Amino acid sequence: MGFCSCFSSNETKASKKYGVRARESLSSPQSHRDTPPQPRPQPRPQPQPLPLPQPPAENPRKVTTEARTNNVPTNKGGGDNNNIAAQTFTFRELASTTKNFRQECLIGEGGFGRVYKGRLDKTNQIVAVKQLDRNGLQGNREFLVEVLMLSLLHHQNLVNLIGYCADGDQRLLVYEYMPLGSLEDHLLDLPPEQPPLNWLARMKIAYHAAKGVEYLHDKANPPVIYRDLKSSNILLDREFNAKLSDFGLAKLGPVGDKTHVSSRVMGTYGYCAPEYQRTGQLTVKSDIYSFGVVLLEIISGKRSVDTTRRPEEQNLVTWAEPIFKEPERYLELADPLLRGDFPRKSFNQAVAVAAMCLQEDASVRPLMSDVVTALSYLWMEPDTTLAGSSASEILTEDGPGSHQSEITAKEREKAIEEAIEWGSKSRRND
Ligand SMILES: Nc1ncnc2c1ncn2[C@@H]1O[C@H](COP(=O)(O)OP(=O)(O)OP(=O)(O)O)[C@@H](O)[C@H]1O
Ligand SMILES: [Mg+2]
Repeated sequence: MGFCSCFSSNETKASKKYGVRARESLSSPQSHRDTPPQPRPQPRPQPQPLPLPQPPAENPRKVTTEARTNNVPTNKGGGDNNNIAAQTFTFRELASTTKNFRQECLIGEGGFGRVYKGRLDKTNQIVAVKQLDRNGLQGNREFLVEVLMLSLLHHQNLVNLIGYCADGDQRLLVYEYMPLGSLEDHLLDLPPEQPPLNWLARMKIAYHAAKGVEYLHDKANPPVIYRDLKSSNILLDREFNAKLSDFGLAKLGPVGDKTHVSSRVMGTYGYCAPEYQRTGQLTVKSDIYSFGVVLLEIISGKRSVDTTRRPEEQNLVTWAEPIFKEPERYLELADPLLRGDFPRKSFNQAVAVAAMCLQEDASVRPLMSDVVTALSYLWMEPDTTLAGSSASEILTEDGPGSHQSEITAKEREKAIEEAIEWGSKSRRND
């Protein structure tokens, strides 16, 4: 693989996935592409209007709270960063940003398309541009959900959507660039020369991911079910602050006295809660299960499903379940790359949290707020440092209990009303 010289080695990880991956309807065969990127089509001179918010006349590049089409809620004020309004980009602009989608700018590839690193001409901001390559109904729908969700939801542990492009049949999303890539890249796809994440880094990432999910479950109203929690969707900045990405599968959770929403079973094989896979009934507890799988990957350094392992070890949860019942065997779960270098108490507690999240009976799984509380004690161990980073750097970052700005109640209420209407429509189509 060739890459732009501006990429460091740990930023170059396109298309090196193995094991079983699918972000699909779980009843359909997985899609996995390994062909090299092809030159992209030239921009169309006449973009078609799409069912997306139209830019207001006075500022053609900003989507405001008033601008909406088809009852899709758009951006709203507040949040914890200044860049909260999703901008619209032309295909030509993003082609220029990514040097015409040159392979050397390719930084990743998932089930829905390729991700490129680029620099926005106007602001010089470094961004990640995801080009969706399935323009069928499902791809377009996920694109809309992603724009909707990320325009509504703002939190330090959710990746920031800078804007999007919907010129003609092109669908591109522009995100803040996360320089260390995904957790998967550091945990499961580790090149031999790269030092493994140490225990403190692992716990910090788990804590941040839990905070992101807690925001979706407890602070968003109605709650948002993420549905695609997995290590490749947890992105890292240089200080190992973690942010959740990919909201194309997210669902508005149940409202009123409903306990679940029904939907076609979607997600990624190996991370999906058993009851959701069986019944299609989605609750926040489905995300708790997926979090348990991610936490187990963090502890063990093993993929949720890996057909290259011995048959009894191919499914990570099945392998771990008997060990969960015998605390004296917990160490068998530890990633060998940690070389036993972790506080034993913290390790045991992390395993216990994973075991609770992975309980078969969804009703006894903990709430995300409980998980956050439990993990908040595990990443503040004073006697460890993070791989490639000093502990002091890490500990000055947002620690447990740090302040998080909130969107104003009124604006939230208004947008949520519309989101519910939009969500119920989308649910009927599921
Ligand atoms: N904002 C970003 N900043 C930096 N790297 C990113 C960003 N978004 C994605 N990537 C990189 O691109 C890779 C592919 O991401 P993508 O979301 O397309 O696929 P995936 O998560 O691996 O699979 P899926 O399509 O099932 O979500 C990620 O694993 C990550 O390494
Ligand atoms: Mg992803």
